[in-house]
Amino acid sequence: MAMKNVMKATLAQGKQTDILFADDLKDLSSHLGGYGRLVMWVFDTNTAKLFKQLPPSHVVLESGEISKNFASLERILSSALDEGLARDGRIIGFGGGVVCDMAAFASSIYMRGCRLTLVPTTLLSMVDAAVGGKTAIDFHGVKNIVGSFYPASEVLICIDTLRTLSDKEFLNGLAEVIKHALLSQDEELYKFLLVKKNEILSRDAKTLAQLVELSLAVKQWYIEQDPTETMGIRQMLNLGHTFGHALESSSHFGQFSHGAAVAWGTCRALEAGVTMQVTDKAYASGATKLFKSYGYQIDHRIGRGDWIEFRDHLLKDKKKVDGKVLFVLLEGQGKAVLKSIEMPLVQHLVIAKPLF
Ligand code: GLY
Repeated sequence: MAMKNVMKATLAQGKQTDILFADDLKDLSSHLGGYGRLVMWVFDTNTAKLFKQLPPSHVVLESGEISKNFASLERILSSALDEGLARDGRIIGFGGGVVCDMAAFASSIYMRGCRLTLVPTTLLSMVDAAVGGKTAIDFHGVKNIVGSFYPASEVLICIDTLRTLSDKEFLNGLAEVIKHALLSQDEELYKFLLVKKNEILSRDAKTLAQLVELSLAVKQWYIEQDPTETMGIRQMLNLGHTFGHALESSSHFGQFSHGAAVAWGTCRALEAGVTMQVTDKAYASGATKLFKSYGYQIDHRIGRGDWIEFRDHLLKDKKKVDGKVLFVLLEGQGKAVLKSIEMPLVQHLVIAKPLF
């Protein structure tokens, strides 16, 4: 069966990304098989296991953030050159966020840009990393600090791959979906999350396909208006990330996945908004309940002894004006604003009893 084309996003330099849904892995393989030998695949040690026999030209990266570096980039570029991949060739990234980022970055610089297909295999990479054209590696201990904007020409989504994820990894992606629901201009995704909770958590394929499609439509709304994040619109997708990144870093990337930290951070941003009379209290309370209903640990408190380390991570955030860190807050459904929060209030929000 032919793959279903669900959307076309127009991104950096007017480039278009086709987002296609595959019914199953067979459907996906037959689409990718059509590219013949003009391709170089990038897997990680998890996604390589999905294949009985790997395609002839491929690189397998160690799974995880550890591979987001120059050494991996060099491996992909060397293999592409050794395999004689020309400019009309294509790099296919088959995996989660790290694989998508690495394949996209390599593709953006190989022969000054070759074709790129991304096959995101985690919920997080389906609704975030694979779409929007951001590529990056970590450098000198700083996450995502060297990279480019290079949208994939196509993103292929096969919901079947979500069945293999652990619950922790599934919730890692679902937090970004809930974040999109709050940022959406309408309430469709929010309501879908409220009424389809059982089907989502039991990973019903049809429900997940609808969920991913609705979530991507929200991301598309933000990135099409501001493809290279220079107009203060795309930045709003960072809701929950300033608090969240500080939690992730100060918990030394162990206890909290990115998504779990974003869920926690979004709830802190909602509380900040209520305290500063930016966010409607009933809206904040409802959104907090939604996160709780999906099992996120949003009542977590920063111990008094850990505050300084948490604050130091927060101060490293890139969104700063006059030395003050800016946070994305919500006035209500889909109405995001950027505001600084006084440090004593930040401290109170992360240490004292939660508001809801
Ligand atoms: N992850 C947020 C963005 O793509 O801008």
